[in-house]
Amino acid sequence: MNSDGAKALICVEEGGLSALGLGDAAENWCAANDFTGKSGQLLALPDLANGGVRAHLFGLGSRDGRNPLLLGQAAAALSKGSYRLEGLKSDAAEQALGFLLGAYKFQLSGGEADAPILSSESTPSAEVLALRDAAFLARDLINLPANLLGPDAYATRVLEFAEGHKMVAREIRGDALLDENFPMIHAVGRASSQAPRLMDLTWGDPGHPKVTLVGKGVTFDTGGLDLKPASAMALMKKDMGGSANILGLAHVIMANRLPVRLRVLVPIVENAVSGSAFRPGDVLTSRKGITVEIGNTDAEGRLILADALALATEEKPEILIDMATLTGAARIAVGFELAALFTASDPLADAMAKYGNQWGDPVWRMPLWQNYASGMKSKVADINHIASQSYAGAIVAALFLEKFTEGAGEWVHLDISGWALEPRPGRPAGGTEAGIRAAYFAFKDRFPPRA
Ligand code: BES
Ligand code: ZN
Ligand code: ZN
Repeated sequence: MNSDGAKALICVEEGGLSALGLGDAAENWCAANDFTGKSGQLLALPDLANGGVRAHLFGLGSRDGRNPLLLGQAAAALSKGSYRLEGLKSDAAEQALGFLLGAYKFQLSGGEADAPILSSESTPSAEVLALRDAAFLARDLINLPANLLGPDAYATRVLEFAEGHKMVAREIRGDALLDENFPMIHAVGRASSQAPRLMDLTWGDPGHPKVTLVGKGVTFDTGGLDLKPASAMALMKKDMGGSANILGLAHVIMANRLPVRLRVLVPIVENAVSGSAFRPGDVLTSRKGITVEIGNTDAEGRLILADALALATEEKPEILIDMATLTGAARIAVGFELAALFTASDPLADAMAKYGNQWGDPVWRMPLWQNYASGMKSKVADINHIASQSYAGAIVAALFLEKFTEGAGEWVHLDISGWALEPRPGRPAGGTEAGIRAAYFAFKDRFPPRA
């Protein structure tokens, strides 16, 4: 124990136990409990004199291929209290973030969870704390059920977020979407009792390079008239996960004051069923003027994103990134642990892959294979928004979006799951973040903050 009552959490690489000099009694205790520092092992060291716990040992395993958030496994297992981190080396900042992320518990009514915390001397940098807050923001928003986070409540939260960051905010709601030429956002969202909207937030020096973030904000996806079966609909409160992560990314960019002019666009809709629902076979004229035949009302995400992307490109941003729980096909391709990344920019793809691996936010690049765009042919419109066959669905969706991104310097699309099916280190099961750390550190390289 030290002055602030924190207990030591001593991190040990496999084989590094004897170098700690814990003494014979402690080493015998470790041997009796098979503690060798293997990845994920956690052992309480008894305080024999007083009958309490002197410290905890946590196994880091070997450095090769170590999960950068491994320490989150300790945070998930430890009881409430303050912990001082000892023994961390090269990936200390990442592991400290892992601890913080692993301590997350969703609280339906907000408020503090009963979770372990880090002692004052182990508190990481403001940058790492911002990364934690960003992840928690994304998780909280995704975990909220759709009756508590419909379009009205979500728009309110986005406006509060904007106010908290002193952003300039505009909300285009309901029929105003038609007046201001966002026909596809309106068409997708109009069947809900809560009006569709486009949230448009800006921040930073107008003279700085423009970076624009766009996120899919479908508060619930029933599939529309092409209704999803129960098993596929069950988790669709997470269909605003792209925008939740975009807000998280925006938070880190602003908290660390990257020298960019930031714009955040969030189309918010509920893909509902009613007499006013859009229909398969309808032809919509998009903001960009491209006419779109509706192949399936369950492919709603790409429609609302297309109008938002078209708006984004009108001011020719240097970087345009969108995130979306866009296709089931991306989950089939890369599973729940990876975000599928699409871009023509090798530098951004490489930077995001590198930093994603470093910070426990892995992305995997997928091809914008242009030949597959021919599957979106329509007899009555410029294009159909889905392909006539069902292969490579994540690529086809990305190619549809790409048609609305002309004018942006570099464009990146992340097709994410937004959900951890099973708990992993630093990631409790449930709503989860993706792309925030990969994109933030790639952007930080490109636009270094002034010292
Ligand atoms: N929100 C879904 C995609 C989704 C499904 C994400 C499951 C994560 C898990 C999206 O709106 C959708 O339903 N897409 C359809 C497209 C199809 C109709 C071309 C899909 O993926 O089946
Ligand atoms: Zn859908
Ligand atoms: Zn959807």
